[in-house]
Amino acid sequence: MTKALKGVRILDFTHVQSGPTCTQLLAWFGADVIKVERPGVGDITRGQLQDKPNVDSLYFTMLNHNKRSITLDTKNPKGKEVLTALIKSCDVLVENFGPGVLDRMGFPWEKIHALNPKMIVASIKGFGPGPYEDCKVYENVAQCTGGSASTTGFRDGLPLVTGAQIGDSGTGLHLGLGIVAALYQRTMTGQGQRVTVAMQDGVLNLARVKLRDQQRLAHGPLKEYSQFGEGIPFGDAVPRAGNDSGGGQPGRILKCKGWETDPNAYLYFITQAPVWEKICDVIGEPGWKTHPDYAKPPARLTRLNEIFARIEQWTMTKTKFEAMDILNKDDIPCGPILSMKELAEDQSLRASGTVVEVDHPQRGKYLSVGNPIKLSDSPSEVLRSPLLGEHTDEILRQVLGFSDHQVAEIHDSGALDPPRKVAAE
Ligand code: COA
Repeated sequence: MTKALKGVRILDFTHVQSGPTCTQLLAWFGADVIKVERPGVGDITRGQLQDKPNVDSLYFTMLNHNKRSITLDTKNPKGKEVLTALIKSCDVLVENFGPGVLDRMGFPWEKIHALNPKMIVASIKGFGPGPYEDCKVYENVAQCTGGSASTTGFRDGLPLVTGAQIGDSGTGLHLGLGIVAALYQRTMTGQGQRVTVAMQDGVLNLARVKLRDQQRLAHGPLKEYSQFGEGIPFGDAVPRAGNDSGGGQPGRILKCKGWETDPNAYLYFITQAPVWEKICDVIGEPGWKTHPDYAKPPARLTRLNEIFARIEQWTMTKTKFEAMDILNKDDIPCGPILSMKELAEDQSLRASGTVVEVDHPQRGKYLSVGNPIKLSDSPSEVLRSPLLGEHTDEILRQVLGFSDHQVAEIHDSGALDPPRKVAAE
């Protein structure tokens, strides 16, 4: 079976998490991803959060599957020649350098476009044009500046960052879509273009419903927020809403059997209006089906704490999985809080290829998250990440067509290898 992006060659200048997330997806769709790394050093994440000494970290391996690695010093004159040849041979250049790095390297957009007018140049930066455009940005900075942190957490607590990497991986996803759109447009125009995504913009896009609420706030209190029912006035900005549901259907995280000792013995429970009567029956409050204080959603809004406390009395008598089984039978929306341990052991996620076991020559077997985007005619096979510079000579010969003599010359220039240490006399 062929792959969706077969024949597309990516010059991958990405590092850390945001950019590598994007190029890994492209590789899973069948693109040939050539990761360019600094000789001797490589992507900084190879050495970060290492669980085994001198072995590529899980941080690196889990973000760089299905890629090839070439080491290249792009500040070395011979290295610039190789980079020029790569630009002419690839379809897309993806980078998430700090602002201005590509220009300082001597490869601004204008030069790349002149070298290869078909090339798409895709970039992630922390911020778009404006006062912060020159700033370096990491995950949590993006979450804080994109509206996520100010709206996450509890009203009387600090702003919170989330465990899901919406700044890095979220922006990588956005960039991937931009690249695929630009590739499609190129089939009609024959021209490359620039694709840029700012992490702040990506996070704000994911926090879109909170900008919705910001504007609703001008027309009165946000009635589905718990604080409305508690009689606490709203300020002029969208408050943190705890575990309130972001939609119009009130929801909360509730304790289940075992919560005293298990930090994940909880269930998300949504009091969706169409199944309200079934909820009343399940929790043993049939009278609430007709009682004017509970029967209709507007009446319930001021009583959500009382209602969820009553539902929790019921959920605490069940494990989260028992509760899920019972509630699902009645189409009552709910979800257990699943720990990473539970997800790692989940057999259906293994069967669907969302959690995969990968073998690595240095570290042995480890678990990773496979491609969450399933294409029926382009299945993704997860291949281990490359060792640093594993494919350097292969790429010089096969992709760029360099002869043995040329490859030896490039090696001699020092463009591919770390500087040799000269032993002290
Ligand atoms: N050969 C030679 N030099 C190389 C090279 C190579 N193959 N690859 C990178 N370099 C150099 C760059 O030219 C740059 O040198 P310069 O500053 O002298 O121009 C230098 O390495 C540092 O690059 P930079 O991207 O700024 O790395 P950093 O470690 O200082 O900053 C980030 C890291 C992530 C903060 C920064 O890259 C950034 O803000 N990226 C955009 C936002 C982003 O993606 N953030 C999330 C990352 S998960």
